[in-house]
Amino acid sequence: MILVVFVELLEAINTRAMVREFIDQPLKEEEKQLILESAIRAPTAGGNEQWYFIAVESKEYLEKLHNLLVDAQRLYFTNILKIPWSMEQIEKWEKKVEAGLYKAPFYVAVFTDLRSRFYMKADVEERWAEQSAAAAIENMLLAAHSMGIGGCWFGVPLLMEDKFYDLFKVKKEEMRLVAVLAFGYPKQKQPPRQRKKGLKEVVRSL
Ligand SMILES: Cc1cc2nc3c(=O)[nH]c(=O)nc-3n(C[C@H](O)[C@H](O)[C@H](O)COP(=O)(O)O)c2cc1C
Repeated sequence: MILVVFVELLEAINTRAMVREFIDQPLKEEEKQLILESAIRAPTAGGNEQWYFIAVESKEYLEKLHNLLVDAQRLYFTNILKIPWSMEQIEKWEKKVEAGLYKAPFYVAVFTDLRSRFYMKADVEERWAEQSAAAAIENMLLAAHSMGIGGCWFGVPLLMEDKFYDLFKVKKEEMRLVAVLAFGYPKQKQPPRQRKKGLKEVVRSL
């Protein structure tokens, strides 16, 4: 039994891919619950659970968040990449946005919750909290994938953080935005993406 579960987990890890286009159908309550529960099962530095999640599911906030994500993503393509996208690429992408790219029935904003502090070194504590949040993120993506739900991890909100803090009504002195995740049933099956670097390039044995 244990071996079977292990193999299923490895399969989930190996077949997961970011999904950015979803069908217009809400997720079931139990599915959303299982995704969120998997977040807090992640390892957490010092057992301190310095994380916080905002689940976005109302029509009003789904729309507002989608618009902000598109703005942040546009900024990434045009002002952040060392080689920005060409006009042609942007136009093609804008058409996809019009067709619903990134529009999801469920988003989860992930924060580090720094209201309680446990260490003498604030910078290290913040890095640990962020690593814990990243572990929670991967847990959610894998849990979703195991239920046939696609997910995407958005880091671009960090490019225009203040707009996101305003939307979520969160004080950045208390909580720090790590990412926004989108979840929904995939519009089409997304096969796993090839890696550019093989193990030989990124692993050194001693
Ligand atoms: C920290 C982090 C930030 C990311 N931010 C974004 C993002 O803002 N927008 C996006 O479309 N994908 C984002 N991604 C997804 C990556 O582009 C994706 O993981 C990568 O291209 C590999 O594809 P795969 O996850 O499908 O294997 C992010 C991933 C990580 C780990």
